Amino acid sequence: MAGSVGLPARVPRVGWMRSFRHGVLRARDRLREAASHVRRRWRQSLQLRVVTTTMLLGLAVVSVLGGGLHSQIASGLERDRIDESETEALNLTSQAQSYWDATTSTSVGELNQTASDIMSSILAAPGVEDPSRYVVMSRTPGNDSDILLVELVSPKNLVDTSVISDELQEAVAADPGRQQVQQTAITVEGKEVPAVIVGSVVQVPNAGPYSLFFIYPMEQEVATMDLIGNSFLVAGVILTLLVGGVAWVVTRQVVAPVRRASEVAQRLSAGRLNERMPARGEDDLALLATSFNGMADSLQHQIRQLEGLSAVQQRFVSDVSHELRTPLTTIRMAVDVIHDSRQRFDPATARSAELLAGELDRFEALLADLLEISRFDAGAAALDVETVDLRATVQQVVDAARPLAERRGSVVTVHAPELAVTADVDERRVERILRNLVVNAIEHGEGGPVDVYLGVGGGAVGVVVEDQGVGLRPGEAANVFTRFWRADPARARTTGGTGLGLSISLEDARLHNGWLQAWGEPGKGSRFRLTLPQHSGTTLHGSPVPLSPTET
Ligand SMILES: Nc1ncnc2c1ncn2[C@@H]1O[C@H](COP(=O)(O)OP(=O)(O)O)[C@@H](O)[C@H]1O
Ligand SMILES: [Mg+2]
Repeated sequence: MAGSVGLPARVPRVGWMRSFRHGVLRARDRLREAASHVRRRWRQSLQLRVVTTTMLLGLAVVSVLGGGLHSQIASGLERDRIDESETEALNLTSQAQSYWDATTSTSVGELNQTASDIMSSILAAPGVEDPSRYVVMSRTPGNDSDILLVELVSPKNLVDTSVISDELQEAVAADPGRQQVQQTAITVEGKEVPAVIVGSVVQVPNAGPYSLFFIYPMEQEVATMDLIGNSFLVAGVILTLLVGGVAWVVTRQVVAPVRRASEVAQRLSAGRLNERMPARGEDDLALLATSFNGMADSLQHQIRQLEGLSAVQQRFVSDVSHELRTPLTTIRMAVDVIHDSRQRFDPATARSAELLAGELDRFEALLADLLEISRFDAGAAALDVETVDLRATVQQVVDAARPLAERRGSVVTVHAPELAVTADVDERRVERILRNLVVNAIEHGEGGPVDVYLGVGGGAVGVVVEDQGVGLRPGEAANVFTRFWRADPARARTTGGTGLGLSISLEDARLHNGWLQAWGEPGKGSRFRLTLPQHSGTTLHGSPVPLSPTET
């Protein structure tokens, strides 16, 4: 019961967590994909690299220049503002001093009245709401006169007098003949703005020295610098984009012909020897095109020459082989006659007749192989495809090789699957390949067992012929398919091969879009594997049987 209650509650939660985890994993994969895509683009595209680096460099230069210019303008504006403030403050102070000098007031009330008159008529700035300056009049520290005037602030209450530091007050008191300047920040309507404070002293009759502080907020300058800064920013962005655009256009001019050259080179290497680059103008790119075309011309010329030469050679081999056929037929008939009547000769002559017949067999085999090879070279070999069960083909080949195997003391075993191993092949050619492999295995198998394995799968059929004889030394697995190559030429006389068997077999396999591969270890034996696509026209991706015994 508890289980049945617990289960439905758990399932949705686990499901939700799983889908969340899936989502995260998918997002991570996407991100990785995108990153690798960008990395690939970066590596592949010269243009992208040039444009990006140029833009980054441009951005750096523009930032440094803009920053320097900005700070210079700012300090210039500030200096001007301070100079202006000092001049104005000096002027206003002297006006206030003359007013005091001319006054006849003596009582505290009268003096206070005069002070407020001075404040409103001379010192107060035009614009009450947003004045261009604030003025504070306060008793200078150290003034110990009995008459004490009230501190005045103009415009009233709009500025906090605490911004005037004690040091400034002391400095003004210490040197009444000089203006004192201080830069600070004040708060106007809740906003902090940099400001200049100019302080000086006026002598009030009967009341002693009083300090006048002129506070000039630099709102205007800040606004100007903001505007300049924004303009710089916009200009910088536009300039960087412009630089990037120029770099793009310029690299395009260089990269496009290079890309065209690589395309043409690719087509050339694919065998289209008539491809050339268009060469216009006299610049470096035209030079590249001209040299490229020159190289292509000379390559084409040499390839044509070689083609001609090898065509002549092939025709020569083919002609000679054909020419040899007729006299060989005659010789064959004569040798047969001699061979048949060898009992009537003395033993030495009879032996010669036997040798003659044997060598003639070899000669005929060689000639047949040569004719076959020249047919491949001339491109005259064609497939005669039909659907075949390879188990029957293998069995035929093995049966035919049985007399040879018995003579060598080898036992040939076929390991075939229960089911049919069908493939669309030219049976005559496949039989020739298999015969060659089986005969080779018996001849080089030193009397050991020979095993033939058959397999089918993955759209391919495979046959492996394995022996336990001399094997192949490292590097020989590739050489065995070379025409007339033999590991041990001295053995050829006893084995009777022509050295053309495997090269013909390879051509036959290739004609089927198939593989013929060799594996071997000295003293252990060799394995030869033939893999063919089950249906003609398809491409192989693997073989159903392993090439080396260690492979699975
Ligand atoms: N099963 C094998 N074991 C060892 N060596 C081999 C085997 N099959 C072929 N070879 C080597 O490859 C060479 C070329 O073989 P092939 O083309 O059939 O020519 P041939 O049999 O006429 O010598 C042989 O001479 C031999 O040295
Ligand atoms: Mg052979």
